[in-house]
Amino acid sequence: SRFIMSCNQRDSAEAKKNDVRLNGKKCSWASYMTNSPTMIVMIGLPARGKTYMSKKLTRYLNWIGVPTKVFNLGVYRREAVRSYKSYDFFRHDNEEAMKIRKQCALVALQDVKSYLTEEGGQIAVFDATNTTRERRDLIQAFVKENAFKVFFVESVCDDPDVIAANILEVKVSSPDYPERHRERIVDDFLKRIECYKVTYQPLDPDDYDRDLSFIKVINVGRRFLVNRVQDYIQSKIVYYLMNIHVHSHSIYLCRHGESDYNVEGRIGGDSELSPRGRHFSHALRDFVDEHKLSDLKVWTSQLRRTIQTAEELGVPYEQWKILNEIDAGVCEEMTYEMIQQTFPEEFALRDQDKYHYRYPGGESYQDLVQRLEPVIMELERQGNVLVICHQAVMRCLLAYFLDKSAGQIHLTTNVRTEKTFEENPAPFDSSLIHRRNSYTPLSSHDQVKRPRLYSAGNQPWLPLAPTPSALMPEGLESQVSDRVTG
Ligand code: SIN
Repeated sequence: SRFIMSCNQRDSAEAKKNDVRLNGKKCSWASYMTNSPTMIVMIGLPARGKTYMSKKLTRYLNWIGVPTKVFNLGVYRREAVRSYKSYDFFRHDNEEAMKIRKQCALVALQDVKSYLTEEGGQIAVFDATNTTRERRDLIQAFVKENAFKVFFVESVCDDPDVIAANILEVKVSSPDYPERHRERIVDDFLKRIECYKVTYQPLDPDDYDRDLSFIKVINVGRRFLVNRVQDYIQSKIVYYLMNIHVHSHSIYLCRHGESDYNVEGRIGGDSELSPRGRHFSHALRDFVDEHKLSDLKVWTSQLRRTIQTAEELGVPYEQWKILNEIDAGVCEEMTYEMIQQTFPEEFALRDQDKYHYRYPGGESYQDLVQRLEPVIMELERQGNVLVICHQAVMRCLLAYFLDKSAGQIHLTTNVRTEKTFEENPAPFDSSLIHRRNSYTPLSSHDQVKRPRLYSAGNQPWLPLAPTPSALMPEGLESQVSDRVTG
């Protein structure tokens, strides 16, 4: 247990360092929707994808701004018992091992408590088998004592192929089996599962567990049983778990080709591709051809520069308005020099906190994450997708895939417009400015928001882009007009 405590302390120090509340950072809209901390308790036999779901769910919740952390009981057990010998450790009649396992669970629960009560955590995911009522009752007593909410996620799977694939994919590289002997590992792991089966009591929605809040995920998402969802965040969890799948797929994130406004150093707007931008779109087509990216869905925003980049590919694509670039409000179509001269205070405020800074009449990065959530959900549902989008949008999407909280998105770049910005420090001492936070739109001299598609230089009666059919191979026209929707 000494080792367990040191693991605990290390994690706790790390959590404190990164913690949004302790560091005085603003939490996102989503964390305001959760009124008391929640414990998500996984249930299921080994190799049922609990860890996969726990990690993904945690990544998603952090991305939408709810501080969440996984507590994996296997990690605690490995801290307590350094060298795993065999499945024998998991036999229900191995009294000595049972004591250690219970002790590990209690230590993990204490860490959960610290995280949710002292470290600013909002959700703790308890990634363990929790296959007995006795263990779940203990957890229930713990959450009651601490006034937490609890939501159970049970993964039930009886498809031997799925289980075998999981063992081969994940367990073969587990620290429990450093020797990496595949046959021995599969054999030992199957026996470990049998040990758990002896005492497994699945959730009983009709009687014993009818008052619990839970989702049963049956055969990797083929069917779901949802019981007594208590609040907004639990419904988000259900929604997310119902959308993810386990098949491998590739997502390509690509910025549009250079636009005329990029050349001029202006932000926002809706300009067309520059000659270099068109060149880029040809290169993108070559890339797609060369890499034989078949079965590829292509998505763009509704701004000309992404649409024109996609047109060159000669395949059907979908336009998503929610993929449009961050709305710079009154600063749309300005260069950073113009912003600095016209709105020096805004310029300084943005420099102070780019993530929470909201352009007057426009958006912040935090707003953007909220806007992009349906895109993430749909990307989770899809196969291979190429998303042709914008710089700020790509940063937010990348933050999700790279498992960063959105606040950690790296906002410096060598893109022309940003460089101009960085090279011209604000004339204000930004530390003297007290920011109205991004939930309160800034009252500014000019609150008039220009409609984006009819911005300066674009006459309203001109079509958005050359009609898709003009560039499409014959036969694809009807598909395109079906699919290019608002
Ligand atoms: C483990 O020790 O690997 C998992 C313990 C459990 O959740 O039963």
